[in-house]
Amino acid sequence: MTNSAVEIQASTLAGYADASKLRQVNDQDWVLDQAPAEPHVHVDLGSGIGQLLEATLERFPSLQRAVGLEQSKYRLREAAGRLQRFGDRARLRHADMRSPERMDLSPDLVTMTSVLHWLYPVEQRTFTWVGQHMTQGGTFLLTTYHPAQDQHGLGGEDEIVRDALVALGTGREFVPRLFADHDVMPIATRTRDAEGLRKLLERDLRVVATIERDAVVQVGSAAEYEHFHAATFGDYYSRLVDPGLRAAFFRAVGDAAWRRQEEIGHVSSMPVRLWNVTTRG
Ligand SMILES: C[S@@+](CC[C@H](N)C(=O)[O-])C[C@H]1O[C@@H](n2cnc3c(N)ncnc32)[C@H](O)[C@@H]1O
Repeated sequence: MTNSAVEIQASTLAGYADASKLRQVNDQDWVLDQAPAEPHVHVDLGSGIGQLLEATLERFPSLQRAVGLEQSKYRLREAAGRLQRFGDRARLRHADMRSPERMDLSPDLVTMTSVLHWLYPVEQRTFTWVGQHMTQGGTFLLTTYHPAQDQHGLGGEDEIVRDALVALGTGREFVPRLFADHDVMPIATRTRDAEGLRKLLERDLRVVATIERDAVVQVGSAAEYEHFHAATFGDYYSRLVDPGLRAAFFRAVGDAAWRRQEEIGHVSSMPVRLWNVTTRG
């Protein structure tokens, strides 16, 4: 059986440059406004297709080197194309931040945007890594999304997926069980609450300040959301359904999002928190 275009998109996380305009790219200036005025070495953790590295390299002439650490080979390849024009100032490395290795890097600016939920429950390893590598008094800027959770730990994207599964015939009450049976941890469960996160951060680092705002996602069509979901979440959720139903699943996610857009004027709205963190002592 051949895979549909959207399944191929999901398996290669393609289309993120367009999809991220709906949410992640909107955080970029908000984050970089908190960066030091003249950073020298920037490391971006979970650097995706290199958009934030591109933004810092353009914005900060003081930057001698910007390094992206990323686990997806597809994203690394796309980032390499995007950053080629910066020559030696840009570097990319394959890395899994759930088991980060010691590296010969001393950044005075570290960023990690829209990534932390993927590292649950071993986020501490990344915070320890930052504490070991960042220069004394350096700046670590971290964004975390905080969807509301129901009693099963589902919230945010999980809710849109639940609507899609129901539209495909699963009883609403069976959805939490389906997640558990397929080892799909709800994204809302993957995101710790602000107090829990602060405690983890402060084992290795010091929180200087936090700011928060609402991230609102709006779309102009069901297809637009279908592609946003495939580019952002890949095949994480689609394994909840049989292979033969996967194209229908992505379509149903788009339709569920579009129903919300028409009913309440947006697909989702949730707080996003920006943590400004430095070294201890
Ligand atoms: C939603 S994207 C965010 C990309 C970029 N930071 C941004 O703000 O647009 C999440 C990124 O984290 C990467 N990622 C997820 N788990 C990771 C891990 N364990 N180690 C390194 N990167 C990871 C994904 O491949 C993806 O590129």
